[in-house]
Amino acid sequence: MNTYRIAVIPGDGIGPEVVAEGLRVLRAVGGADAGFSLELEELPWGSAYYDRHGRMMPEDAIPTLRAFDSIYFGAVGRPDLPDDLTVWGLILPMRRELDLYVNLRPVRLYPGVPTPLRPEVGEPHFTFVRENTEGEYAGLGGRQGQGEHELAVQTGVFTRRGIQRVVEYAFSLAAPGSLVTSVTKSNALRHAFTLWDEVAAEVAARHPDMRFEKMHVDAVAYQLVRNPARFGVLVGSNLFGDILTDLGAGLQGSLGLAASANLCPGQRLALFEPVHGSAPDIAGQGKANPLGAVACAALMLAHLGERQAAGRIERAMEHVTRQQVFTPDLGGSCSTREVGDALLAALGSEHRKGAT
Ligand code: NAD
Ligand code: IPM
Ligand code: MN
Repeated sequence: MNTYRIAVIPGDGIGPEVVAEGLRVLRAVGGADAGFSLELEELPWGSAYYDRHGRMMPEDAIPTLRAFDSIYFGAVGRPDLPDDLTVWGLILPMRRELDLYVNLRPVRLYPGVPTPLRPEVGEPHFTFVRENTEGEYAGLGGRQGQGEHELAVQTGVFTRRGIQRVVEYAFSLAAPGSLVTSVTKSNALRHAFTLWDEVAAEVAARHPDMRFEKMHVDAVAYQLVRNPARFGVLVGSNLFGDILTDLGAGLQGSLGLAASANLCPGQRLALFEPVHGSAPDIAGQGKANPLGAVACAALMLAHLGERQAAGRIERAMEHVTRQQVFTPDLGGSCSTREVGDALLAALGSEHRKGAT
């Protein structure tokens, strides 16, 4: 029987609330009859850790994480600490130092969920592949001068290798004949994105069985609202991917539904986290939608090779959304815990049906 060691980092705000439901679901689908087990080790990193130690995670955090098969993460950010401190202290170094250069963000509709889409535009069913280690998030630049003369410079770093590997991954996801859209802004941000366009076209030429297009990010934003069903796989830079995947979550009906996998293809160690943040406006009230975090649990199991268990979670999610067991973000009045209860009930009844 395979045993997977999972580092669980609940983090801040609603992070621990949604992760708790994800863990209940993971415990329910693992075990002897499933043929695998999970060793879940909780790491209390984040803003509370910062209060005690003056840093968001221990100095040896990255080597510690390398010993796990996967990382299951909630969110980071607390209103009394600067956001740049908390994100540069935890989530961004994990992505960068573990070289998790693909941030995979699927956009799918769940049955029964109200969305802002007009029926005639069709159902979005696309995957965003976001570059996750460089680009606008390179962290280079600085502030100088004072008063009216103060200025800030923020430098993006785009490498041929960095672009090539993420675009190559996007093509590896696409089925023959499907569309890969490379998202840039090479008309205005000419240095970075003419390089990106060039490299993307070279990669596309190696995949003649796929359809390929490049599109400026502003036009992509427009098309995502007007005609989202036209897209298959989108690939874009760190910042564009960040922004457009919140838009994708909006199409899904709530940020609380959106899931992501941070991967280094070919490597087992990967990080799974909902797309949303710590949502301080609703933290501690039992209102957070746990389905994004639960969808991350399914992505994690699929990545570990446990596709059947991943499928069980997805079916339980669909059952729960079809029954409209919704938190307030989806117009319901259920608590985070009640959605978790409904998922466990759905998993249990499916299991009983399977046994008879
Ligand atoms: P946010 O994603 O936390 O919240 C945006 C809005 O969506 C809020 O109204 C919130 O209530 C709602 N929302 C988010 N998740 C929800 C859920 N599961 N269920 C129901 N509603 C949900 O973004 P923000 O307000 O811009 O940022 C808050 C903090 O989170 C900041 O400190 C920011 O830096 C941090 N952040 C962290 C991550 C991460 O850890 N990966 C991601 C985004 C933002
Ligand atoms: C996300 C978040 C992060 C990002 C923040 C917290 C740095 O918004 O995962 O989408 O921009 O990548
Ligand atoms: Mn984001």
